[in-house]
Amino acid sequence: MAETQLSSCHSLLLLLACTLFQQLYASNTKIGVNYGTMADNLPPPSMVATFLKSKTTIDRIKIFDANPDILRGFAGTGISVTVTVPNDAITSLSSLPGAQAWLSQNILPFLPKTVVTRICVGNEVVESNNKTLITNILPAMKSLHEALSLANQTTIQVSTPHSLGILDSSDTPSATVFRRGHDKAIIAPMLDFHRRTKSPFMVNPYPFAGITPTEPETVNYALFKPNNGIRDEATWLHYTNMFDTQMDAIFSAMKKLGYGDVELVVAETGWPSIGEPHEEGVSFENAASYNGNLIKHINSGKGTPLMPGRTFETFIFSLFNENLKPTVSERNYGLFYPDLTPVYDVGVFIAEEASVPRSGFGPISGPTSGPTSEPSPISGPAPQGNFP
Ligand SMILES: *[C@@H]1O[C@H](CO)[C@@H](O)[C@H](O)[C@H]1NC(C)=O
Ligand SMILES: *[C@@H]1O[C@H](CO)[C@@H](O)[C@H](O)[C@H]1NC(C)=O
Repeated sequence: MAETQLSSCHSLLLLLACTLFQQLYASNTKIGVNYGTMADNLPPPSMVATFLKSKTTIDRIKIFDANPDILRGFAGTGISVTVTVPNDAITSLSSLPGAQAWLSQNILPFLPKTVVTRICVGNEVVESNNKTLITNILPAMKSLHEALSLANQTTIQVSTPHSLGILDSSDTPSATVFRRGHDKAIIAPMLDFHRRTKSPFMVNPYPFAGITPTEPETVNYALFKPNNGIRDEATWLHYTNMFDTQMDAIFSAMKKLGYGDVELVVAETGWPSIGEPHEEGVSFENAASYNGNLIKHINSGKGTPLMPGRTFETFIFSLFNENLKPTVSERNYGLFYPDLTPVYDVGVFIAEEASVPRSGFGPISGPTSGPTSEPSPISGPAPQGNFP
């Protein structure tokens, strides 16, 4: 798109207008990465920060803890950071003094040099079935919000990411509801908190987890590739990709509780480039297709059938391949190798020439895990970020 705009910049006047437009367009992109650190071979955070800032359009990161080395490493870069309160600290944050203590120790020392924009309280807690955590999560979010206000940090949002496990399974996006038992008791009060504090509801959609190996059509549907699509019989809306289906399912569930106005952020989504031989749909090509097409889809500003024109701040999972993750596919969600060369190109580089994977790395045409006749293991739960 930018190239088309550039070629039409013939006069100085047009050039100025185009530059302005391109800046507006660029500032409209909201693509970030999850910077997980379950690895023993990653470069120092300050090197990562310099790399992202100078070589890529990625202007925001999300981390699965409040790692002080990362917070220090991103100081002065202007790259915004979403931090996470680890699940095992949630209970202590449910009182105001506990939240203030956590904030003073983990976040305040790095402000304002490091741009912390959001704090996630735990990861995928509501669907964890851990009663203690579920009981404490909203009180912890409220205490943390109050602690931030008392510290005059009113621009920092408080939220928590959810997997699609918070939804009751449904045939169509428009018919989807939150899991009964959770909907009114947990989700509605949480959405009310988001509305009051102008913070987003965060979700982790993984179309990868929704593909059916016996139906190649579902792979194209998940990868934003040409396919016949699916019609929602209730709304008569036509869906051509699974991401939209999943986002509209969440939106429908929110709307039924009366909170269709709350902002949505995609906290995690991605696709592995290498997996076990039996893992259908896993390949460099598919990972590059999913993430590349997702970025184009988000940046097109088209939105979804039920949310036309809406863009979602989106964090791809993940920045690096992490060699200490438990399974082969979990170790291969990264956009980059630890030496900062790309695993594949998803169009996040500022300089074109830098986007070509170096030979010896990123075997785009190398070994792929071809489909086998084994049953699919992919319908299990989505990857859980950095919590094994
Ligand atoms: C619930 O989560 C907390 C914090 O991570 C953990 O210490 C506790 O063991 C969990 N409880 C259960 C029943 O899994
Ligand atoms: C917050 O701002 C108010 C008003 O400017 C000021 O009185 C107060 O001391 C500030 N509190 C902190 C913790 O900086």
